[in-house]
Amino acid sequence: MAGTVPGETPGLAPQSAERQALSEGDFMVVRQKPITAKPAVIPSNGNILLDQHGRVFDYLRIAVNEKCNLRCIYCMPEEGIDFKPVEKCLTTDEILRLISIAASLGVRKIRFTGGEPLIYKELVPLIREVASIPGIKSIHVTTNGLLLQKMAEDLLAAGVDGVNISLDTLHQDRFEEITRRKGLEKVLGGLSLALRIGFPSVKVNMVAMRSFNEDEIGDFVELTKENHLAVRFIELMPFDAHQIWNTGKFLGADRILETLHSLYPQLNRVTGSATEEHVFRVPGFKGKVAVIPSFTRSFCGNCNRIRLTADGRIRNCLYSDNEFNVRDLMRNGAMDEEIGRMFRQAMWVKPKDGWEALKTNGNHRESMTQIGG
Ligand code: 5AD
Ligand code: SF4
Repeated sequence: MAGTVPGETPGLAPQSAERQALSEGDFMVVRQKPITAKPAVIPSNGNILLDQHGRVFDYLRIAVNEKCNLRCIYCMPEEGIDFKPVEKCLTTDEILRLISIAASLGVRKIRFTGGEPLIYKELVPLIREVASIPGIKSIHVTTNGLLLQKMAEDLLAAGVDGVNISLDTLHQDRFEEITRRKGLEKVLGGLSLALRIGFPSVKVNMVAMRSFNEDEIGDFVELTKENHLAVRFIELMPFDAHQIWNTGKFLGADRILETLHSLYPQLNRVTGSATEEHVFRVPGFKGKVAVIPSFTRSFCGNCNRIRLTADGRIRNCLYSDNEFNVRDLMRNGAMDEEIGRMFRQAMWVKPKDGWEALKTNGNHRESMTQIGG
C-alpha cells in the first residue's frame, strides 16, 4: 500500500500536509503528490528506524519551542512569525514520552533545538529525565548562546554532552545587524564558560554569508587555536521567511573551502559526524573546523536524523513538508506501539535526499525556527 510500511496494518497512514490543512487550517499550501513507498523487507523485530535507501536513524532533533530571543534576518522577520500557541506545542511529558518511544526504536542521540531552547522553562528538568532513559547515549543542545552564561552549569549537571552555539560574527555592529538585538558579549561569555566547565563537545555554528561575514572566516578558525572547539561554517538555507535568500548572500561550501585552503594551506583533513563532510584541523591547533553544505545537500546519503517540530510533527527531512502529526495521535489516546509505528512510517518514506524532498513540497514552513534548526 502506498506510503505504508510493509507489514503494517492499513489505516495508520501518516497525516499528510493535505489532511492537516483540512483539519487545522494553519497551512497555506497543500502537498501536490502523494508519497509512495515501494514494498521492501524491513527487519521483522521492527526495533529500528530505517528507510528504503538503507539509512538507519538514531538521532532525534527536537524543537522544544518556536520562540526566540533573537531575530536573525535569515530566520525570522523583526516582528517574529506566527508562533504556535502553547497548547499546540508539545508538553514536557509528551516530549519525554516520544523520546522513550524513539529510544526503543534505536534512537541514541538527542538534540534540543528551537526556536531558542534555553528560553523553554522546563529544559533542565527535561534533560535530567532524558538522561535516564535507557538507550539514550548523548544529549546535545543548539543555542544562540544568549542565556548560556546563566545556564551552562545546570545543563552540564543535568546531563548535556554537547552544546552548539550559533554565532555568525565577532563584530558588535554586525551582530546587531544580523540578529537585530544586542548581546555579543553574552554569547562570547557563554561560549568561554562552556569551554571552561568541560562539556565533552562545544561547537560554534557560523552561517557564512557573502559580503557579510565572509571576511571573518579566518578569525573564526583562530578560535580553534587554543580551544577544544569545532567551528562549523554553514551554508545559508532558504528558510528565511522570504528575507535575505534572494539578496545574493549565499556562499557555497566550495567557496568556503577555497577560502579556508587559501588562508591555511597546511589544513589536515580529519573525521567528523555524519553530516560534517569536510572537517579539518590546522596543524598545532587544538580544535577543528568544518564546512556544512546544508544547502548543497551532498551529505544526504549519510543522514541519520529525525526531526520533531515544536507542534509535534515528525519530519523525515529538513527539506520535506511531508509531516507526521504524532501530537494528535498521542492526544487521541494512541498506545506507544501505534506511535512507534508512526515513527517507522515517517522514516520509511524519507526521500532519497533533500532535492527529492523539495519536489513534493508546498513549503508551508517559512522559518527554521518552526522546523528546528
Ligand atoms: N540558513 C542557515 N542556517 C540557519 N539557521 C537558522 N536559519 C537558517 C538559514 N536560513 C541556523 C542558525 C543556527 C541553527 C539553529 O540554524 O544559525 O545555527
Ligand atoms: Fe533565534 Fe536561531 Fe532564528 Fe536566530 S536563527 S532568530 S537565534 S531561532
